[in-house]
Parts: sequence; C-alpha cells; structure tokens
Amino acid sequence: MARAFLIQLITFTILLTVQSSPSTSPLLRPPHGGSRQSMLLPLFLSPPNPRRHLQRSDPQTHPNARMGLYDDLLRNGYYTTRLWIGTPPQMFALIVDTGSTVTYVPCSTCEQCGRHQDPKFEPELSSTYQPLQCNLDCNCDSEKVHCVYDRQYAEMSSSSGVLAEDVLSFGNLSDLQPQRAVFGCENQETGDLYSQRADGIMGLGRGDLSIVDQLVEKGLINDSFSLCYGGMDIGGGAMVLGGISPPIDMVFTQSDPVRSPYYNVDLKEIHVAGKPLMLNPIVFDGRHGTVLDSGTTYAYFPEPVFVAFKDAIMKELNSLQKTHGPDPNFNDICFSGAGSDVSELSKTFPVVDMVFGNGQKLSLSPENYLFRHSKVRGAYCLGIFQNGKDPTTLLGGIIVRNTLVMYDREHSKIGFWKTNCSELWERLQISGAPPQMPSAPDREPQPTIAPTQVPDHVLPGELQLNK
Ligand SMILES: *[C@@H]1O[C@H](CO)[C@@H](O)[C@H](O)[C@H]1NC(C)=O
Ligand SMILES: *[C@@H]1O[C@H](CO)[C@@H](O)[C@H](O)[C@H]1NC(C)=O
Ligand SMILES: *[C@@H]1O[C@H](CO)[C@@H](O)[C@H](O)[C@H]1NC(C)=O
Repeated sequence: MARAFLIQLITFTILLTVQSSPSTSPLLRPPHGGSRQSMLLPLFLSPPNPRRHLQRSDPQTHPNARMGLYDDLLRNGYYTTRLWIGTPPQMFALIVDTGSTVTYVPCSTCEQCGRHQDPKFEPELSSTYQPLQCNLDCNCDSEKVHCVYDRQYAEMSSSSGVLAEDVLSFGNLSDLQPQRAVFGCENQETGDLYSQRADGIMGLGRGDLSIVDQLVEKGLINDSFSLCYGGMDIGGGAMVLGGISPPIDMVFTQSDPVRSPYYNVDLKEIHVAGKPLMLNPIVFDGRHGTVLDSGTTYAYFPEPVFVAFKDAIMKELNSLQKTHGPDPNFNDICFSGAGSDVSELSKTFPVVDMVFGNGQKLSLSPENYLFRHSKVRGAYCLGIFQNGKDPTTLLGGIIVRNTLVMYDREHSKIGFWKTNCSELWERLQISGAPPQMPSAPDREPQPTIAPTQVPDHVLPGELQLNK
C-alpha cells in the first residue's frame, strides 16, 4: 500500500487517534448495524480545503444539476442518485454522502468488488477516460504511474482504487452539461461497501476531490447544493448541485467550516412538545459538534441529551404501549397502538424542535425521529440513539426526511425547509416564483435576469442570500 504523501500521513494520524480513544464508538459512526445499517463517515479526512475565491464572469447564469433520488432509509439504509460516467455514458447508483469526498464506482479491473445493482465501470469502453498520472499532488501507486485513493471507514469498510478523469453526466432533469471530473475507479472494496446493493458513493463533503468542490472550482455551479429525502415508506426525493433560491420561510443555521470538516450546525436547544430539555447548550458542541451527515441513517445523541430526550418523549406517550424492538440484538424503544397511517402520527407523537444559535427553529415531525416497527403493525421505534460515549451529536438522514436541506457553503450556512420531497420540483417552482422578496432589511439589491435567458427548468428567481 502506497503511503507516500501528505494526505495519508495526516489521515494515518487521525486513525491512530481514533483507535487510542477509549470510546466504544468509532469516529462519528455509532456501532449500530443489523437492520439499522448506516453509512460511515470516513475515518480518513482530507485536510481542510482553503476556500478559493473564484473569478466568475457572470455568476447569475450558473446552471445547476437537478437529480432524482432513489431508495429509502429503512429498506436500504441510504438514498442514492444516478450518475453517468464516460462516453458513451455508463450509469451508476451512488449513495449520496455529505460525510465523505471521493466519488467512486467499481472498476472492471476490480480484484475484490461485490455484486452491485449495475455492471462495473469499463474504462476501455469510454473514449474520454484518462487515469490521473502520478504527480506531486496525489498519492501514487507503487509503480509511481497513477494516482490512487484509499478510504477507510469505521467497521472495517474500505474502498481503494485509481483516480481517473472522465465525463460525468447528471441526467436529463439537469441543465448542467456533462463535465470532466475526477472520480475513483475501485480496485478493492470491503465491508458494507462490498455487500451493499448500491454501486458506490457520491462524495458531497468538503475537499478537493468532492464533486461539489470540483464543479465549483471550475466556476460551473454556485458553491451550494441541496438534498431532499423522501418520507417514511416512500423514499426517493431530489437533489440539486448548485445554487437555488431559498424559499422565504427556510430556516437557517450557521455551519462553521473551521470547526470541523463535516457539515455542522449550531444546535443549542431541543424542545419536546414545546418544552425545552434542561441541558447546557455546550452538550451539543462536544468533539465534532453537531454534524449533519446524509450518509448516516439514524441520529445519535450524546448520553445526557439522549437520556433527557427519551424521558421527555416517554412522558408525552402515556397512551401508548411500550413494546420490544424488531431485533432482539438492539434495545430499541418502541411504542405500539399508534396506527399505521404516517400522516396521523403527529396526533400521537409530540413535535420536536431544534433551536439554533440564531434563535431559528427547525420543527421535526414524528417521521423525523421514528422508524416503523417491521414486525408489529402500528408500532414505531425511536430512530435516535445514544452515541455510545462519544459526545458528538450526529444527525443522519432520518432527521431531514421531507425536508429540503440547502448546504450553502458559500455563506457557511445550512437551510431547512419542510416540504414533500416527492414533489420538490413542483413545490420549488411555486414557492420560488418571482417576485419573491424576503423581508430581511440587509438584503443586497436584487439581481434581475431576463426570462428569455433562463431555460424552462432553471429554478426561478435569483435571490441574494443574507450573510
Ligand atoms: C430521463 O431519464 C430517465 C432514466 O434516468 C428515464 O427513465 C426517463 O424516461 C428520461 N426522461 C426523458 C424525458 O427522457
Ligand atoms: C449564485 O451566486 C451568485 C454570487 O454569489 C449570486 O449572486 C446568485 O444569486 C447565486 N445564484 C443562486 C441561484 O444561488
Ligand atoms: C407527498 O407526495 C407524494 C407524491 O405525490 C404522495 O404520494 C405523498 O402522500 C405525499 N406525502 C405527504 C406526507 O403528503
């Protein structure tokens, strides 16, 4: 294994730190497998990427890539999108993961890859494929010919292979034209990455190899992307690479890129049924802070938060029967007698609010903290667990079902907007239709664009986000 350059030295250090920690849980990923499969945040972080300021001639006309999401949290443990690589394009189903950076698919040369839902990528069938030649900015293979990548995740899951450049296409909903970008052609995978049905990972985290960073770096899209995960029993949803105009009532929180390389939020309080949990806000700032990770399935609270949360929920649920979880290996907290209609759940289960440092509030529906019991009809279990002894608060996909989450990297903030993600395009068209004037007084002058310049499927309105 090549262990030559800077990145691997740094990542190696992080791995050692992790292993010597007394915590029972690996980096961010709690030990919670089985039916509650979740994706790992990588143990190997690339060094923080200094934000480069781009010279853009005409930022207003930046297209974005609109892409559908597929799969489902409970059934698959993840959401995927479709990405096409090569000329002619070969299609892949990739887990969308804000907790990692490299995008990779199994390569036809792979020596150890599992069976996934699509055929492996065949470089020889693509006229535009080019492996990256070994250079000072990358890790090279042992023959010093090509650039390689190697990602280790918790629970012994890993992926390694060659870094290559080829044309990526974003599907027929997208007005972003196909672009050359660097991705990983896998030669080995282990653990969940080997056994999962999805072909690979689409990395949306912060770092040079992230698809988002690459498209932003070339001045192709605004420094922002959005994910909208479909609801309980429905799954799917939508995503956008590039800027969108935020709906007026979107809730924002600061996201500090210096605090941690993950997308963090400035969580200060949690309310259950309108009542604040009695907690010092610093409990949400332990270790990595409060991290939003689209590639993790459920949510994990530090011990004091979890205990207070669980107690508050139980107090609100006197009318329901406590019942065993679907899997005897886990001590799940489940309730029966709530009925099987998801839209009725809010009649039984309390609203949970997350309050951010700026006072703005994200209200969670029951489907954002419950999963359906797979064996008992009308029963639901808490989809929030204790994060072992790790003081990190980890918010996975369950928290943002039927919520448009805008990762506005340019302004270091994250926006949330409750919506039906199965109908996102229609809903954005309506709510984003001009004239749309947020009431914030410090808003910059509104750029205007001639309607004729905008293709049909571009999101309307070009709002300047408030800093
Ligand atoms: C767009 O692509 C999808 C496959 O990803 C296909 O099912 C659909 O029919 C296409 N739509 C159009 C309008 O070409
Ligand atoms: C893209 O970024 C530019 C420059 O910051 C901004 O003026 C424009 O409103 C953004 N567009 C969208 C759709 O976010
Ligand atoms: C969201 O939209 C889908 C598709 O139109 C629909 O089937 C579903 O019932 C809607 N969900 C809610 C919670 O309204």
